Amino acid sequence: MKLRKAVFPVGGLGTRFLPATKAMPKEMLPVVDKPLIQYAVEEAQEAGIEEFIFVTGRGKVAIENHFDHSYELHAILEGRGKTAELQAISEWMPPAGSVTYVRQGEPLGLGHAVWCARKIVGDEPFAVLLADDLILAETGCLKQMVALYERTGGNIVASMDVAREETKRYGIIDPKSLPEDAIIEVGGLVEKPRPEEAPSTAAVVGRYILQPSVFEHLSQFERGAGGEIQLTDALVKMIGEAPFHGLRFAGERFDCGDKVGFLKATIAFAMRRDDLAAGLRPYLQSLI
Ligand code: G1P
Repeated sequence: MKLRKAVFPVGGLGTRFLPATKAMPKEMLPVVDKPLIQYAVEEAQEAGIEEFIFVTGRGKVAIENHFDHSYELHAILEGRGKTAELQAISEWMPPAGSVTYVRQGEPLGLGHAVWCARKIVGDEPFAVLLADDLILAETGCLKQMVALYERTGGNIVASMDVAREETKRYGIIDPKSLPEDAIIEVGGLVEKPRPEEAPSTAAVVGRYILQPSVFEHLSQFERGAGGEIQLTDALVKMIGEAPFHGLRFAGERFDCGDKVGFLKATIAFAMRRDDLAAGLRPYLQSLI
């Protein structure tokens, strides 16, 4: 069945970016001139997603406003003939009625956030995108995953290799395939293992294509790493139910939940812009 829906868990508090995130959702932090959540939505659009489900929480209204028609701004820009700016606020907007919001209530973990979307997703496959994981790629990461999904079906996670000492920050794949394969056959998954216990260094990046049976597993509300309801733990139960692959995607992933990752993303995305690179390059060179 065609992948039509994507879930964006955006309920997190963003404590790592305080005070910036005191009154602003972390997903609205801009990389150059675009909020993180918009990058994720555009990646989903490129992959053919038609319905956008935000799992949100208190203090996240700015996200809803961002994906809404801004009447005043629109009218003012139109009146002043500012065509480029008008495009900047509207050309990426999902069509009316294609964005849904559901509140998570208590922040009980990523698995719980995804479970909160179950009634809107219904009985069909869906994608999950974590906006913190910003991916710079010629072809969007989710689009690459959809291409694989059309061949294999089942469940797919995006993957990249990390340093062994970093495994405790990620879901880690126990691969059945060869270490260098771009398409990994998932034999097991562990959430945030200690380096000495990690089955490999193939980490899960925040892009998933999942079958709806994940909701049954999530409704067990089992607590995992950090006392949270982990998505990874539900995925473990899906291994063997249907094909399950990891895709070592082509592209660079930035951890924008981390300050250094966020700064790297800002520089990388700015350096790819013709209007910014020339002004920035001499300054970057002068720093080193
Ligand atoms: C989540 C997932 C983890 C995954 C990571 C990717 O962790 O639980 O399996 O590797 O996203 O960014 P979090 O970063 O929310 O702690």
